[in-house]
Amino acid sequence: MKIVFATNNLNKLSEIQSLVPNGIEILSLIDINCNEKLPETSLTLEGNALQKAKFVFDNYGYNCFADDTGLEIDALGGEPGVYSARYAGENCLAKDNIRKVLDKLKGEKVRGAKFRTVIALIINGKETLFEGECNGSIMQTKNGEEGFGYDPIFKPFGYNLTFAEMTKDEKGVISHRGKAVKKLILFLAATD
Ligand code: IMP
Repeated sequence: MKIVFATNNLNKLSEIQSLVPNGIEILSLIDINCNEKLPETSLTLEGNALQKAKFVFDNYGYNCFADDTGLEIDALGGEPGVYSARYAGENCLAKDNIRKVLDKLKGEKVRGAKFRTVIALIINGKETLFEGECNGSIMQTKNGEEGFGYDPIFKPFGYNLTFAEMTKDEKGVISHRGKAVKKLILFLAATD
């Protein structure tokens, strides 16, 4: 079976390609000649993931899955959430988003937060959602050089390191995305 992963992120693509069961071929957006920007206008992670997967299924006719991730900070009422990529403004950099979070949490003692990933899969029109969470806390300052996004300020519970101080493999085992992907892979293996 061929399934499109509706992402332009080549790291995510190669990560999944090595995990899927034999018999499933993951195609990229480039493979199906999709150069359009996928719609992502929902106010929820679930909505955005479904919107992207449905767009590919409806317009290109391929079974497809798409993901969406957000950092939900308790003291900020769940912000930045669905706006995680552009919290400090359209086309901002990760360091701008981090600065905004640290500024907003200045003096704040309650620093609990979680990353949440939702993957929406559409096979022959049937939609299934998979979710992964990673609970932790927001540091006072940045630590570490690995990873991306908010990794330098996110410390998962039970660890004395931020995500940016872990290797990709260490992070993958406990991360929100790692957990959601694992559920997707198990589902695909069972339906293969
Ligand atoms: P996306 O839905 O995977 O593109 O994630 C949206 C935004 O959430 C990214 O642009 C990052 O700012 C943030 N983000 C997602 N996953 C992670 C992660 O594993 N570590 C740190 N930041 C992340």
